[in-house]
Amino acid sequence: MNGIGFSDWMAHIQLRTETALAEVLPDAAIAPERLHEAMRYAVLGGGKRVRPLLVHAAGELSGAPVERLDRLGCAVELIHAYSLVHDDMPCMDDDVLRRGRPTVHVEYDEATALLAGDALQTLAFQTLTDLELADSASAQLAMVGLLAAASGSRGMAGGQAIDLASVGKALERSELEFMHIHKTGALIRAAVLLGARAGKPLPDATLTRLDHYAGIVGLLFQVVDDILDAEADTATLGKTAGKDADHDKPTYVSLLGLDEAKRLAAEMLDSARACLAPLGPRADRLVALADFIVHRTF
Ligand code: IPE
Ligand code: IPE
Ligand code: MG
Ligand code: MG
Ligand code: MG
Repeated sequence: MNGIGFSDWMAHIQLRTETALAEVLPDAAIAPERLHEAMRYAVLGGGKRVRPLLVHAAGELSGAPVERLDRLGCAVELIHAYSLVHDDMPCMDDDVLRRGRPTVHVEYDEATALLAGDALQTLAFQTLTDLELADSASAQLAMVGLLAAASGSRGMAGGQAIDLASVGKALERSELEFMHIHKTGALIRAAVLLGARAGKPLPDATLTRLDHYAGIVGLLFQVVDDILDAEADTATLGKTAGKDADHDKPTYVSLLGLDEAKRLAAEMLDSARACLAPLGPRADRLVALADFIVHRTF
């Protein structure tokens, strides 16, 4: 796949991801049908698939077989989809629109949304265990640990707890950064590291660069999400615009203002690029993904 341009590569990986997810998810005809239908509804037919794209782009550097990367991309995307289902529930952000469609609790019901999120999370881990995804069993076990840490109370779920506890508060810049690094950055970082570990061992210096890049891009992703919430319209976003201000959530826009938040995003993009520059053209897709993350419209 090395010869094709970025947008063709992206479309190709998005399609592979969709196919892999459709295979991994239980058939909606299998009991309990309604739960399986809700899980498929939450995952399939939407989403930018940024995390699987990062898995594949980092995985290419490690020379990993593409089937392993499909599988790892699925695991991360399943965690992401579960986090969105729960994030939208009335007890959290209380959103009715996601990826241009009614949210899972609206389309089904709250209990089904809760269970669909639970089951997507466990399916993510099952997906990491039933095929060979690394060159040794211990390396694969480390992948399970990495995804668990990124998803749990010291990763995404912890960041979400801070988000909910911060409503109506004016956070310090460092507190806001801590929240964003956890609620969104942790899973994005895991996506890069899982890809990087799926093939031949990379030199420590390369892994350190990738980790640094992933940390920047993880925070950057949520800074841009904050900007889009303030600036884009609901039809383009596929989710209700202006929710952060309505719910009095501290964001990079509420802290810095739109212009300064955009300036920061551009600066972080430069840092991500600089971080990968010594790796040369083999990191081009990771650079292009950072660029996509900043310039996306939804
Ligand atoms: C939205 O994530 C939630 C955040 C973590 C900011 P995405 O913007 O990746 O959502 P989809 O998967 O493309 O719908
Ligand atoms: C969500 O952040 C982060 C998650 C872990 C799901 P947001 O609450 O800002 O995400 P959106 O804007 O609803 O997609
Ligand atoms: Mg939220
Ligand atoms: Mg939300
Ligand atoms: Mg948001």
